[in-house]
Amino acid sequence: LLKRIQIIDTCLQRRIVTNAVEPSNVLKNEDNGEQEGWKAFDAIQLERQEQAERSVLISCHSKTNEKKFLKYLSIHGDIKNSFFYESYGTYAVVEFANQESIASLHEAVNLPVVSNESVVPFKSRLLSLRSLGAAVVPNSQTGPKCKPQATIPLTELIQRLSKEESIDHQVTSLMKAYQVTEENTRLRFLVCSLLKDIAAAYFPECNVRPFGSSVNGFGKLGCDLDMFLDLDSISGRNVPMPKAGLVLEYQMKRSNSERAVTQSILTVVGECVDRFGPGCVGVQKILNARCPLVRFSHQPSNFQCDLTANNRVAMKTSELLYLYGCLDGRVRGLVFAVRCWARVHSVTSSIPGAWISNFSLTVMVLFYLQGRAAPLIPTLDHLRSLAGPADKSVIEGNDCTFVSDLSKIQPQDNTETLEQLLCGFFHFYSTFPFARKSINIRKGKEQTKPEVVPLHIQNPFEVSLNVSKNVNAAQLERFVALCQEGAWQLEQSATLTRGTGHAPSPWGLAALLVPAAGTPGIKGRKKRKREPASERIKSLLESLKNKV
Ligand code: CTP
Ligand code: MG
Repeated sequence: LLKRIQIIDTCLQRRIVTNAVEPSNVLKNEDNGEQEGWKAFDAIQLERQEQAERSVLISCHSKTNEKKFLKYLSIHGDIKNSFFYESYGTYAVVEFANQESIASLHEAVNLPVVSNESVVPFKSRLLSLRSLGAAVVPNSQTGPKCKPQATIPLTELIQRLSKEESIDHQVTSLMKAYQVTEENTRLRFLVCSLLKDIAAAYFPECNVRPFGSSVNGFGKLGCDLDMFLDLDSISGRNVPMPKAGLVLEYQMKRSNSERAVTQSILTVVGECVDRFGPGCVGVQKILNARCPLVRFSHQPSNFQCDLTANNRVAMKTSELLYLYGCLDGRVRGLVFAVRCWARVHSVTSSIPGAWISNFSLTVMVLFYLQGRAAPLIPTLDHLRSLAGPADKSVIEGNDCTFVSDLSKIQPQDNTETLEQLLCGFFHFYSTFPFARKSINIRKGKEQTKPEVVPLHIQNPFEVSLNVSKNVNAAQLERFVALCQEGAWQLEQSATLTRGTGHAPSPWGLAALLVPAAGTPGIKGRKKRKREPASERIKSLLESLKNKV
């Protein structure tokens, strides 16, 4: 009976915690009463993409009168949604109700009038609003209310968390403050859609899809925008071939490898982004990486973008992480807490190098949760066993099959609090036998390391790859030492009396996020023992090679 009560309690908890902080990329499924609040990954992607295609991005004056601005645009059709934000100026994202409005808008938009300069006449959905006369769009006194696209400062976050009454509440508060918002998600899909318009100059049927933390439910405001140019949707692949008789096929250039084709495609698309892409600056083509990519900054959105091609496995990985995050609210909570703690203590960094990446850290959290006495999430092998025929997926020889329907997965009967889980995480990795064992979420059990590297985390789908190949021994040691310290700190905070009043001193998760005095950041560490330039370049190249 006790067990049954616990299971019911967990089911309730799954719903409650999941609903408490609903990630912005989980669209509500209003038609499906059975699984209210949850939607399959592919359905979300499609819906978001379609939404983005009906949207435009407009640079405007900071004092734009919102009402008049929207009225002016509505001559092209009904506006379904809009918001303003600040990034190198004020921008508005405007979503029309119908696709035709975009065509109507394009008809009415002027080419810029410039003196002493020339423009590349590439038309996109990134526009500027000029106010030529107060009669059209007069400026208001205050300007529109802008939606934040960046996280609050760490000190403010610590203060906010210190006022919470439990570590579980602190985690919820952290997620509210840090995770990508509804608007930020819209902007991410819109930037992909703008990129698609550029790539469509070469491949009219292509698609550009976000992956990684923009869509896997673990994204923090300000995280990079990973996207991939999807050419698999190009028609003609599945046209049935007659057994006999006449048949026409396209004449196409051939290359001796898929990689060479990807490199050629990214070369021209990268060139196009660089020369014609409005708002795209600092374009670098990193074509010799293991997964070739074009990196650039999209200034209007302030996103650091990585455009890859032919990267379907990473898309599947994003779906898998999304599913794990939806299984139980504690998964996202713990990943956010650990990722935030790791960033503060420079375990992770935005600069590529020999440190643990957010992706590796996420897989480590999942592995830890699979190994609890009462596992909180199932193994990937179990998710594979629940898959139906429609879930079958083999990409470049890699079996990427797993169930995509949340309702087919039985809730696990783990009732631990986030406080217990966080403390358990630190203990688990304080004593993990990294020297001998590999982390493997497919099996949910540590495996013998297949190669001599400081940290081995098997890629969930490309099983011969180590996702943490870049990590050196010093970084791993530092991570372990910080885990020991984290465990100790949490135990201390359990025995300490919590501060009260207007500004209580940091405790629990807040205390964990206080940067240790004198702990050098990544920059500091570099200064203390600077490697020769050749070593640093080697390490940078290695990390780029590892980037998928
Ligand atoms: N990826 C992978 N193997 C790696 C690195 C990355 O499969 N060694 C895939 C993962 O699907 C990952 C995505 O590429 O989610 C994007 O990588 P990255 O930007 O490094 O990680 P994110 O999960 O997006 O996290 P962050 O917020 O740091 O960008
Ligand atoms: Mg990323």
